[in-house]
Amino acid sequence: MFDIPPELLGEDGIYRKELKIAVELALKAGANIEEHCKKVGTKAGQQSETTLQISTKQNDADFATAIDILNEKIITEGLLSHFPHHQIIGEESTGTGSLPELTSDPTWIIDPIDGTTNFASGLPLTCVSIGFCQNQIPVMGIVYAPMTQELFLGVKNKGSFRNGIPICLSPSTLAKTLKDSIVLFEFGYARSEESIDKMLNAVKRILQHGCRTTRCLGSGVLDLCYVAMGRLDVIYTGVSEEGWKPWDYCAGMVIVQEAGGCIRSLQNENDEFDDCGKVVPGSSFDIYSKSMICAVHPGLLEECRNTVLGFK
Ligand code: IPD
Ligand code: CA
Repeated sequence: MFDIPPELLGEDGIYRKELKIAVELALKAGANIEEHCKKVGTKAGQQSETTLQISTKQNDADFATAIDILNEKIITEGLLSHFPHHQIIGEESTGTGSLPELTSDPTWIIDPIDGTTNFASGLPLTCVSIGFCQNQIPVMGIVYAPMTQELFLGVKNKGSFRNGIPICLSPSTLAKTLKDSIVLFEFGYARSEESIDKMLNAVKRILQHGCRTTRCLGSGVLDLCYVAMGRLDVIYTGVSEEGWKPWDYCAGMVIVQEAGGCIRSLQNENDEFDDCGKVVPGSSFDIYSKSMICAVHPGLLEECRNTVLGFK
């Protein structure tokens, strides 16, 4: 079920070794997530809760567990044993410190558990995310969600896959407008009054405009994979201080773009525009961006962006 598709391993499978190792490590780390999640709500789970060793980061809502740290160690050591000259940027080793610079060296960007709150509570939407950059550009994404048994893979110019089957957005998604879309946002860890007001006002504008429904699922990485499959139509983050970090974007960005989705900064950072003044989909998004909007097609992206930011 989690075999790597031959399209990615064939003769021109340029990241063949990288992909094999990263998938192996994602499955290994995913097994640790599964072991804990399956115990939640059982007698065995009561013991497991105490071994989670929760440590808080920027505030009480933002935390890491002993499994986050263990998974990052497994993935980092595994990668370095095969690729000693590669760089690694991991969520837990970065902690609350400043983000390491992304150089032109081959660089892995890791979230050892995305959706840590879901994970700790035994909610199934949680995953391991491993992204790979060459010359500062994300070129490969590996996302494993053990509780839903899904392995998403994306390689630049080679396509995206879910459990070995190619995924791509269907032509019917091109007709979507905000009114018939599922719109996702995450509140993240911002808790100041000003931030809460900004985030709630954006939600209010979407509801007033009209949409099919809204969702907050708790895993930024899976949110991107779900847009890649058309399960969600548009997602955004970074209205205020709730924007995501490179490990929330890197792997998912490759997967969603290879499936035909588009992504850009929500706010006006580093955008590139075509001759008609329209933003070039995907051209400008950089994983260090403080804000992001991603949709199944550029028209919907811009419609939602204008609504979220309160533009006419
Ligand atoms: C978080 C999740 C959440 C997003 C936060 C992230 P974590 O990752 O992806 O959906 O809103 O900004 O930090 O902390 O569970 O790895
Ligand atoms: Ca995490």
